[in-house]
Amino acid sequence: MKSFQDEFIVGECKGQKVVEGVQIPLVLNPGQFDSNTSTADVASLVDVLKANKDAFEDMLIKHSAILFRGYDVKDAQGFNDIVEALDWEDIRYVGPAPRTHIHKRVWTANEGPLSEFIYYHHEMVLINEFPKKVILFCEVPPPEGGETPFVTSWRVTERMLQEFPENVKEMEEKGLRYTFTALSKNDTGSMRGRGWEDAFGTSDKLEAEKRTKALGMDVEWLPNGGAKTILGPRALTRVFPKRKERRMWFNTIVGMHGKEISSAEMADGSEIPSHVVKRCEEIIEDESIQFKWEKGDVLFLDNLALLHGRRPSLPPRRVLVATCK
Ligand SMILES: [Fe+2]
Repeated sequence: MKSFQDEFIVGECKGQKVVEGVQIPLVLNPGQFDSNTSTADVASLVDVLKANKDAFEDMLIKHSAILFRGYDVKDAQGFNDIVEALDWEDIRYVGPAPRTHIHKRVWTANEGPLSEFIYYHHEMVLINEFPKKVILFCEVPPPEGGETPFVTSWRVTERMLQEFPENVKEMEEKGLRYTFTALSKNDTGSMRGRGWEDAFGTSDKLEAEKRTKALGMDVEWLPNGGAKTILGPRALTRVFPKRKERRMWFNTIVGMHGKEISSAEMADGSEIPSHVVKRCEEIIEDESIQFKWEKGDVLFLDNLALLHGRRPSLPPRRVLVATCK
């Protein structure tokens, strides 16, 4: 009998890195394909995944990212078949990004303006229950830009510990507090432009307070009709099972510190020094893997080990997403 790996040819992609001897992302091309189209059909991939769920999950945890390239994935339906093949439970997106439901478990990725850089993050890092896996599918690759870069989170922690052991220790001990301000109406002119009614799924303030409480947040109503969400204390780093005891940089300091609509500080109210945040941003960029999309790509990310983002892009660009427990 063929082993799981025998079903594929390990390939390469632009921007990939070898981190501690492991290729990221692992690129899997079909072992057998139609010589007319140079692709293999989705059904063949679905069958292989169904028969090798555990082996595939182990492989994903080992490599942090796996790219299937060379399969004839045409649309949300084909992508959904791949997602469902693994029987991983769905987890609904909660957060500020505008997204549209497309088909079964498939949603659009953040629909904010393509000209904006979506900063590196672990998906739903601030919510109590976040996805373990983020799966992306490229329906329309951008003509220029629009990469989905990702970063090995433990490497960020390691380098921050090397350069700022005292700051890291203090932030770890005190914990972090974030605030995020949402407007009262939807403003899709910004990638974080969801009004609080949409973000909380209600226009009733009492109901909104109940829902945010359940997510581990407090809400403060602003005179202009907006809502300020306060989260904390939250951890700086997290260690997850099966990931080599690695300390993941499971926070969103760089993305939220000192911004117009958001803030990050220590939970006792003390400031996080700006130069520490700035250097962290450089380290994240330095450690990043700049992944460039091709049509039909399906990319699996271990959300517990990688931060991901989106580079500014020229239109058109269509990337769809599914998130799993
Ligand atoms: Fe994301």
